[in-house]
Parts: sequence; C-alpha cells; structure tokens
Amino acid sequence: MHRQFILAFIFASSLSASAFAVDDAGIFKSKCSSCHGEDGKAHTKMGAKEKIPDMTSDKVQAGITDDKIKDAITNGIPDSKMKGFSGKLTPEEIDALAKYVRTFKGK
Ligand code: HEC
Repeated sequence: MHRQFILAFIFASSLSASAFAVDDAGIFKSKCSSCHGEDGKAHTKMGAKEKIPDMTSDKVQAGITDDKIKDAITNGIPDSKMKGFSGKLTPEEIDALAKYVRTFKGK
C-alpha cells in the first residue's frame, strides 16, 4: 500500500514535469525550421527567396529586441511570409521560442 502510494507519487510528478516543460527545440524544428532552418541560419528555399535573417548573426540578434521577437512570433511580420502563431501556440510556448531564438546567437 505504502509502496504503491510512493510509486503513484513519482509517476504523477514526472507527468506534471513533462506537461509543463516546453519542448522549444522540438517546436522550432516542427513549426519554424522549414523557413528558418533547424540551425536558425535560414539556409532553406524560403530563406533564400525571402532573405530571412540569419539568427546566428550578432548583427541580427543585436538588431531585434526581445519584445519584437515575441511580437513577430505572436502576430507575424506584416507583408511577409512570417505569420503569427497566436492561437496555434500557447503564450508559454511563444515565450520559450523567443528565448530559444536567442540561443542561436554566435552559433
Ligand atoms: C513560412 C516561413 C516561416 C515560418 C514557418 C516561420 N518564419 Fe519566422 N520569418 C519568416 C520570414 C520570411 C521572416 C522575415 C520577415 C521580414 O522581416 O520581412 C521571419 C522573421 C522572423 C523573426 C524576426 C527576425 C528579425 O530579425 O526580424 C523571428 C523572431 C522569427 N521569424 C521567428 C520564427 C519562429 C519562432 C517560428 C516558428 C514558430 C517562425 N519564425 C516560423 C518566415 C517564417
């Protein structure tokens, strides 16, 4: 009885941990990499066609604020192929992706 309770507790806590952790790299790969490339360099067909900024570039990173990154992901960039993801991704996922975009800097 006691043992079952402990096992149930371990199971429940591992479940909640995975439910709350956002898989930023996984989402980037599935929703963003077709244009931005898995490495953020935009060495893709769309990247070449639309001149998508290289996210690993210091200049690109310095040229955009955290708020602008979040806004681009949430609402998209007007008159571009960058569409907003509000309603498709949760605010937590968008937050995590905005931070993930920063991890490309200097790579
Ligand atoms: C259909 C292609 C496409 C997809 C999918 C896409 N993007 Fe973009 N993204 C673009 C284009 C094109 C631009 C450049 C738009 C412009 O400035 O004219 C851009 C720009 C951005 C910028 C701004 C960069 C800067 O320096 O201005 C961010 C941040 C960004 N995308 C993040 C993401 C994230 C995160 C995802 C996935 C959730 C994503 N994008 C999915 C095409 C795409």
